[in-house]
Amino acid sequence: MHADVLVIGTGIAGLSYAVRLGQLEPKATIIMISKRDLLESNTKYAQGGIAVVSNFINDSYENHVNDTMLAGENSSDREVVDFVVREGPARVQELIDWGAQFDRKGVDLHLGKEGGHSAKRIVHHKDQSGLHIQHSLIAKARSLANIVFLENHSLVDLITDHHLEKDKQKRCYGAYVISKKDEEIIKITAQITVLSTGGAGQVYAHTTNPQAATGDGLGAAYRARVHVENLHFVQFHPTALFPKINNNTFLISEALRGAGAILRNNKGIAFMSLYDKRLDLAPRDIVSRAIHAEMLKNNVAHVYLDATMLPLEILHQEFPTIYESCLSVGIDVTKDFIPVLPAAHYICGGIDVDHQGQSNLSGLYAIGECSHTGLHGANRLASNSLLEALVFAARAAKSSAKQLENRSLSASFFNAIPEWRGTEAISNERTTHISSLRFKLQSIMSQHVGIIKSVSSLQLAEKELHEVFIATKALYQQNKLTPQLTTLRNLVSVAYLMIKQSQKYPENRGVYYNKDYA
Ligand code: SIN
Repeated sequence: MHADVLVIGTGIAGLSYAVRLGQLEPKATIIMISKRDLLESNTKYAQGGIAVVSNFINDSYENHVNDTMLAGENSSDREVVDFVVREGPARVQELIDWGAQFDRKGVDLHLGKEGGHSAKRIVHHKDQSGLHIQHSLIAKARSLANIVFLENHSLVDLITDHHLEKDKQKRCYGAYVISKKDEEIIKITAQITVLSTGGAGQVYAHTTNPQAATGDGLGAAYRARVHVENLHFVQFHPTALFPKINNNTFLISEALRGAGAILRNNKGIAFMSLYDKRLDLAPRDIVSRAIHAEMLKNNVAHVYLDATMLPLEILHQEFPTIYESCLSVGIDVTKDFIPVLPAAHYICGGIDVDHQGQSNLSGLYAIGECSHTGLHGANRLASNSLLEALVFAARAAKSSAKQLENRSLSASFFNAIPEWRGTEAISNERTTHISSLRFKLQSIMSQHVGIIKSVSSLQLAEKELHEVFIATKALYQQNKLTPQLTTLRNLVSVAYLMIKQSQKYPENRGVYYNKDYA
């Protein structure tokens, strides 16, 4: 297969990029790959919304910039923060023009509040913001004739000069992808490749991310020697529902605390005043560590979120998903406290990109959660992620349109790129072995590379992960490739980078906390 542009990942970043490019360059051919169906992505599960300044009486760009810098503990790139905040309103308006509808109070947008924000500025659609945005963007993308969708295909590897048996990785020429149904590996070549593969929460045992969030873009980029930075900044969301629903740790949006819900320990005591004067709406790293401390102190597996003081109509109107999901596991949030625990939520680092989303490998862009733009620094401000995805997708689309003015590589060049070369053999135990290695990796990361790390826990993690790596390598070399195996390979690469980058990081900042440095 061949297209001008190959987009891997169909969350808000990939879809808004494709729509924008499809409009700028109606003749450009675009192939979009999604690992599951088009809807399934981290975006689908984003409840909060998009942080954007829209009320200039109570808020300002300066305030949003300052809040972002403060959350990121002054390690964000101020220039990036500034343009993302200022371009935000136009990008949200564009989303509305493409069909998205956000909650309103009269004619004005209804604005939610989340931790670390000095004003109400979260534009949202009830507590289903991401799901609604996904539906709107998919409908818009489907209306454009130049976009082709390939669902249920996972990224195996990027195609680079390495596959042409040249020494240096100078350029990206597309990717090899594998189909879920018949496990066939397809070569897709392109002038421009865009990674919008989202997060990697599945590296941990407890995560708010869906099963498909396995860091495929990060793993493939790392193997192609693309710069991947700041993976030691993993943000844990303080309030994920305990226990899991369908094996997933369901998110209880911070917006619920924004509306007045408070955390209580197992004795019913509201404890946040012991940890931070901003109480339940302190930045997430502080709230997550406070919960972790309470759990250790009282030797329990979770704390509680008390939303019983909220009027029923607020719960019904603004938090229908949380209300219904809790009810489905027997928790009536109007009467019962919600059992919650911190869970891996967002990777603040990723593939290093410039202001247009271009990585250090020519022809390869990265946008959305898999990228590292400089916006989040050491800790992401709530609801800044969808904003970042929209702003960088638009910039990358503009830059791609310019690049496509000169389609520098010929059809015969692409035809000469070899098909995937791998083994056809299959060993009997491979499926069970892959699942147990994935489980082992998740428990290593949760036990040793979680909210609180230490020098020795990281050493232990490195040693134990090495065993998983050796076993995965053997499976990879001796077996026909499957989507499960390629996913495991990516999880191992991401876990390795998280451990190594954690070991190199010299201080406690933002979401990174090593008790030996305290
Ligand atoms: C939430 O709704 O609490 C999540 C929002 C975010 O992570 O930005």
